Amino acid sequence: MKKYVIFADDVETEEEAVDFARRLSGNLAAVKIGSILFTKYGPDIIRKISVYAKIFLDLKYHDIPNTVENAVYQAARLGANFLSLHTLGGRKMMRAAVKGVKRFQDETGNRGPFLMAVTVLTSLSAADIASDLNIPYQASDMAMLLTETAIKSGMDGIIASPHEIRQLRRQIGNKLIISPGIRPKGASKFDQRRIATPKEAIENGADYIVVGRPIYKSNNPEKTLEKIVKETNFERETAEFI
Ligand code: C5P
Repeated sequence: MKKYVIFADDVETEEEAVDFARRLSGNLAAVKIGSILFTKYGPDIIRKISVYAKIFLDLKYHDIPNTVENAVYQAARLGANFLSLHTLGGRKMMRAAVKGVKRFQDETGNRGPFLMAVTVLTSLSAADIASDLNIPYQASDMAMLLTETAIKSGMDGIIASPHEIRQLRRQIGNKLIISPGIRPKGASKFDQRRIATPKEAIENGADYIVVGRPIYKSNNPEKTLEKIVKETNFERETAEFI
């Protein structure tokens, strides 16, 4: 059965992070490590967690092409299976990231990481986009345009709110969609606003869902994850990627 859940391992310490990966890995597609734990512990945490699970290294690269190409190459060598980068870095930056993966593929014969594009940060309001970025577009239009650029630039998929999936799926065909903002029925929303249940997100076309606090803050993380797995116990047409 396909595993849909990417666990957002946003806990405080390396010890906890590795322990969660160990306990949950049987039901996970991957573990997502973000910039906080990576900054605190460095590549070592990736090495320790990859003993148990595939890795989504969520550092959202956004820099000049040469820097991103080499960072992607190093992340591939570290064993990351998914990486995130900002579409706003532009086409040249994204093409350079693809070159970084290609170099890794040529050297090792392995597939290397899937490159996942972030379009518009969900934390940006319409006012932020207008006044801080001086961009005269609605967030949703901007996301659509950036998605087009991302796919044309060789990205393997998009990270998107579960509310955008249906439209996105039409736009990007069989490229990957990973959705955060997932809340099982009855779970606390925490600071997420535009949420969907695991079942809704998968039904709408997400290839993977990112779930953090509903699992690691629950009284019984293993059981909570099992419930999500049961809820999403259906096969979909899109291919399994990892
Ligand atoms: O704890 P929770 O399930 O809300 O975790 C969601 C994860 O997805 C966090 O690591 C968060 O940083 C990330 N994320 C998000 N919304 C986005 C992009 C990433 O919640 N738009």
